[in-house]
Amino acid sequence: MSNLSVSYLGLKLKSPIIVGSSGLTDSVDKIIKLEEYGAGAVVLKSIFEEQTNYETGSMLNDNAYPEAADYLSAYVKNNTIEKYLSLIQESKEKVNIPVIASVNCVSVGEWVSFAKMAEEAGADALELNVYVLPTSTKYDSERYETRYYDIVTAVKNETKIPVAVKLGQHFTNLPSFINNLYKRGADAVVLFNRFYAPDINIDKIEFTPADILSSPQEIRNSLRWVGLISSVVEEIEVCASTGIHNSSAVIKQLLAGASAVQVCSALYKNGPEYIKTLTDELKQWMNKNTFDEVKEFIGRLNYKRIKDPKVFERSQFMKYYSDKK
Ligand SMILES: Cc1cc2nc3c(=O)[nH]c(=O)nc-3n(C[C@H](O)[C@H](O)[C@H](O)COP(=O)(O)O)c2cc1C
Repeated sequence: MSNLSVSYLGLKLKSPIIVGSSGLTDSVDKIIKLEEYGAGAVVLKSIFEEQTNYETGSMLNDNAYPEAADYLSAYVKNNTIEKYLSLIQESKEKVNIPVIASVNCVSVGEWVSFAKMAEEAGADALELNVYVLPTSTKYDSERYETRYYDIVTAVKNETKIPVAVKLGQHFTNLPSFINNLYKRGADAVVLFNRFYAPDINIDKIEFTPADILSSPQEIRNSLRWVGLISSVVEEIEVCASTGIHNSSAVIKQLLAGASAVQVCSALYKNGPEYIKTLTDELKQWMNKNTFDEVKEFIGRLNYKRIKDPKVFERSQFMKYYSDKK
């Protein structure tokens, strides 16, 4: 019998397959089903740092009474937070799998106190979806990176539960950046987030959103960095995300060094019950390759076995293109 259990964020997961933060995890009923289908954990839909401000602002545009504005502002804010905390609390009452809360944030602010509230509501861990888009020529990269460090430091001061940071793909020196996150207390990184992607409609001559769901090809970049980070920043855990659409992709990410994987688009496309297929096929592959436990093969193909990853990648690059006639 294959043992799928893994450890992630200090939690024992019965399977390495986590359902990523999205509309798939925004209600207790959905989370109960995800557990039934075999999910190892769920990351709840994110609460946005500015969500309450924005909602309040749009409601108050026509309001001439400042006291009413204050009341409404507090009401909307509490309601959003209250709803989120109830989701954590009720999910924890109904399921046995770990429930990871998620915040989408851009800066250190009042919202940081939410980390403590999430912990008190029973969240097993917190995932920070930090999205800082560099748009200014005035600031160098260090200034943007410092923002991430400040957020992790502030959140770790606020809560004792483990913290994962879900990152975008574009950093100059990801190993050093992630090592700095680790030094500030981050327990794991999720590689990678998939941000809003723009497209252009040339008939209407306007911007449109590109497909919200990923494609299986998008696993490539994540696979490289999971392999590299898990071997050079060994102290931090790595969770793979983006482009995991089938059981082969799950297996590849585990071989590359992921402690666990997150799936999202694949469940939107195939239905949440697709977790069962992913799990069954993972077990079949383990049986075929005589692995009793997932732990036996996590990281088997990470970059540790490669003496110099830089030289390796360069030689692969040269081979890749020079072989093609
Ligand atoms: C409809 C939808 C809603 C999402 N909402 C969130 C969210 O609230 N917070 C978050 O961190 N990621 C969110 N994501 C991103 C996913 O968690 C995931 O990182 C991304 O889709 C890449 O994984 P995939 O290739 O398995 O889809 C969302 C994705 C989709 C498709």
